[in-house]
Amino acid sequence: MQSSNIHGGDLDEISRVYGIDKSRIMNFSGNVNPLGLPESVKAAIAKNVDIAVNYPDVSYKSLREAIAQYTGARAEHILAGNGSTELITGFIKAVMPKKSIVVSPAYSEYLRILEQIGCETTLSPLSAGDDFIPDINALPIADDTDMLVICNPNNPTGTYVTAEQIESIAKKHKNLFIMIDETYVEFADVSKRISAVELTAKYDNIGVIRGTSKFFACPGLRLGYGISGNTDILKKVDSGRDLWSVNVYAELAGCVMFTDTDFIQKTRELINSERARIREEVDKIKALKMYKSQSNFFLVRILDGSITAKELFLRLIKKNILIRDAESFPFLDETYFRFCILSPKENDILLESLREVFD
Ligand SMILES: Cc1ncc(COP(=O)(O)O)c(C=O)c1O
Repeated sequence: MQSSNIHGGDLDEISRVYGIDKSRIMNFSGNVNPLGLPESVKAAIAKNVDIAVNYPDVSYKSLREAIAQYTGARAEHILAGNGSTELITGFIKAVMPKKSIVVSPAYSEYLRILEQIGCETTLSPLSAGDDFIPDINALPIADDTDMLVICNPNNPTGTYVTAEQIESIAKKHKNLFIMIDETYVEFADVSKRISAVELTAKYDNIGVIRGTSKFFACPGLRLGYGISGNTDILKKVDSGRDLWSVNVYAELAGCVMFTDTDFIQKTRELINSERARIREEVDKIKALKMYKSQSNFFLVRILDGSITAKELFLRLIKKNILIRDAESFPFLDETYFRFCILSPKENDILLESLREVFD
């Protein structure tokens, strides 16, 4: 494995390779909310630590109702999963597409699973010339394309398509199942109308996947959910996996976190203000181009060729700053890196380091 391309979540590997204690790494690569686990979740788990003696509710009824309240979807259209990862695999294996399109560069798991099932996949490129803004009219959808995968907002570009654009595809291509990974959607400005959750009640060719790892800062809990109005597909996803894949602590956390309006509000305020501040600061560094993001991370291009993203990664990791060298993503090269928003203090440390390297 190329050390600078280690998966965003793989702090253990980074810590082993570079000999840095995990707790000292400023992880600008993981895309996790810097506010940390909501206090409400900590308190609920601490108070109920003994629930490990029980199995989870096999139908996850209360959890699905909590997600329904939070998202506005119907509980019977919701499936809880072991992180969004379980649902990505689940939806792909339930639909079993023969021909798919993945809007790319994107999170690598979609392609990995599509390849695993032998699906012929076309990566539909987002172009640097268009600032990676998706053009839905350019999607090479053929009559026999049976799956379209969109990460929205997209990892690693932070760009997005609107629900309206998704609806136009769903309406026009009835035999196409559109799988939308909304892992980062809660970080986006609500006025952009990105989420396709509402559409799931109207169209049965849409599946929305959401996680809690990033926004609710709990990747170790492993909780995600899928939403689709297509109950046949949902049943297939459900029957294709093991029983009790969401453990009791994740089940409990999910019943608490979605009602923590204080945490949700604080996160939105922090991300919105830091997103604007970081943009302003990076825009002043002439050697860098930062793409517009509706997520909690930014894709950045090094314009002056003075250093590659991998070299930058190596310089920063010496200061315990972990960024993501984005070279391994399709259609990107050694000039791209990604970093996420952490606390204002940590963001200042990164900004200062970038100025030192490029000014
Ligand atoms: C776009 C996207 N989807 C899904 C995941 C996996 O998330 P989870 O922890 O919910 O399985 C990630 C993790 O980085 C991601 O970036």
